[in-house]
Amino acid sequence: MNPEAGAEGKHTATAEQPDRTNAAPVSEAKFLPYGRQHITDDDIQAVVAVLKSDWLTQGPAIPAFEKKLGEFIGAPETVACSSGTAALHLAMLALGLRESDEIVTTPNTFLSSANCARLVGAEVRFVDIDAATGLMDVDSLARVLEADAEKKIKAVIPVHFAGQPADLPQIYSLAKAHRAWVVDDACHAIGAEYEYENKAYRLGGSPHSDMTAFSFHPVKHVAIGEGGVITTANAELVRRMRRFRNHGMQKEDFAEREMALSPDRSVNPWYYEMQEIGFNYRLTDIQAALGMSQLTRLPWSLERRSRIASLYRELIGRSFDSNTVRPLTVLPNRKHAYHLFVVQINFERFGIGRAAVMNRLRQAGIGTQVHYIPVHLQPYYRKRYGTGPGDFPQAERYYVRALSLPMYPDLTEADCQRIIRALKAALGATA
Ligand SMILES: Cc1ncc(COP(=O)(O)O)c(C=O)c1O
Repeated sequence: MNPEAGAEGKHTATAEQPDRTNAAPVSEAKFLPYGRQHITDDDIQAVVAVLKSDWLTQGPAIPAFEKKLGEFIGAPETVACSSGTAALHLAMLALGLRESDEIVTTPNTFLSSANCARLVGAEVRFVDIDAATGLMDVDSLARVLEADAEKKIKAVIPVHFAGQPADLPQIYSLAKAHRAWVVDDACHAIGAEYEYENKAYRLGGSPHSDMTAFSFHPVKHVAIGEGGVITTANAELVRRMRRFRNHGMQKEDFAEREMALSPDRSVNPWYYEMQEIGFNYRLTDIQAALGMSQLTRLPWSLERRSRIASLYRELIGRSFDSNTVRPLTVLPNRKHAYHLFVVQINFERFGIGRAAVMNRLRQAGIGTQVHYIPVHLQPYYRKRYGTGPGDFPQAERYYVRALSLPMYPDLTEADCQRIIRALKAALGATA
C-alpha cells in the first residue's frame, strides 16, 4: 500500500486534467482526489530490480509485459508503447490513414481519440452520444456512415467512456458494411466486458474490433507514469506498429541488400534500415516492470471499483431525487471497469453553478473533475470544422451536468459516505 494514498493536501493534477484550483484544501480530513494510483512495495521492488539490471529500455521486461497483457486481455497480439495517445496514433499509422481520409469518434472523450487522426492528416467527424451513458449513439453513427457516399470514412473510433463498453457488435457491423476499420479507445476500460449472443467478450480481445488502445496513465487502473498498449489479431498491423514505434526501423526484409550484406552474404551485424518515417514511442523496461507488477492486482482493482460504484449508487439513490442527481446508466450485459464515476447533476434545480460546487467540495477535502469538454467545442476543432454549440446536443447536455466523483480502489465505505454527504451540502440540498 502506498502510505501516502489519499494523504491530506494531495492533489491529483494530471496532464489530462490540470489542477487549476491553487488553494490548498482547508478541510482537516484527508484529501480525496478524483483518481489516484495504487503503488505497493512489490511495485517498487519490481522497478528497483530493473534499475539494478542491464536494461532500462529495450530489454526483456517489454515482451514480458506485452505477453502478460495479452494473457489478461485475451488479445493475440499486443504492442506496448509510450502512452494511450501513442497507441491510437500507431493504429492510424498502421492503417495507413492520410489526408484524404476521415475517422468518426464522439465529442465526449479526451482529445487523443480525435487528435490521433489529425496526427496523420486525416479529418475528424463527430457523432453524438447517448447522454444517459456518455457512449457513442449507434443511430447517429449509422446516419453519418450512410451520408458518406464517397466512403471517405476509413475508421470508427468508439470510446468506452468511464469504463463502460460501447456497443461494439453494432458499431463493428455498421463499420464493416462501410468497409471501415474499428479502432476502439479502451483507455478507460481495461478489463471491461460485454455479452453478445450469450458469449462474454473482454475489450481488446473481442472479434468486434480491429485494434484496441489502452492507457496506463496514473489515474488509470494500471498506472505506470505514462504508457499504453494496442492490441489486435492482425499480424501485419502488428508488424507495422512495431516499426512505427521505433523510428520506422527494421532489421529484416532489407531494401538495400548491398549495404545489408557482408561479402560472405551474411547480414551485417550492425545493419538496420528505415523505409518510412516513425517515432520514438517505446516504453521503458522500468515502466513495463511496474506494469507487470500492477497487472497482478488488476482483478482486485476492478472488483473494488465495482463495489465502490454500487455503494455510490445506493447512497445517491437514498440522498437525492433521481431528477436532480443521477449516476450514468449502466447498460445490460456489461461489465463496467469504472475508471470514472460520473454523476449527472441538474445544477439549475439547486440554484448553484458547477464551479461553485467543485470549490465547495475542494474546501471539504474532496477532488472532482469534469469529463469531458466536448471535443468539437475545442478552439482547434471549431476553427478547423466550424463546429460550435448546438452541433452535438446530447454531448453538450451531458457535459453541462457532468461531475466525476472520486474513484480509485483505496476509497473506503466511510470515504464514499463522506463524499455524498459533502456533495449534498455543497449543492445546498436539504436532508
Ligand atoms: C479516452 C482516452 N483516450 C485516450 C487517452 C490518452 O491516453 P494517454 O494519456 O496515455 O496518452 C486518454 C487519456 O487519459 C483517454 O482518457
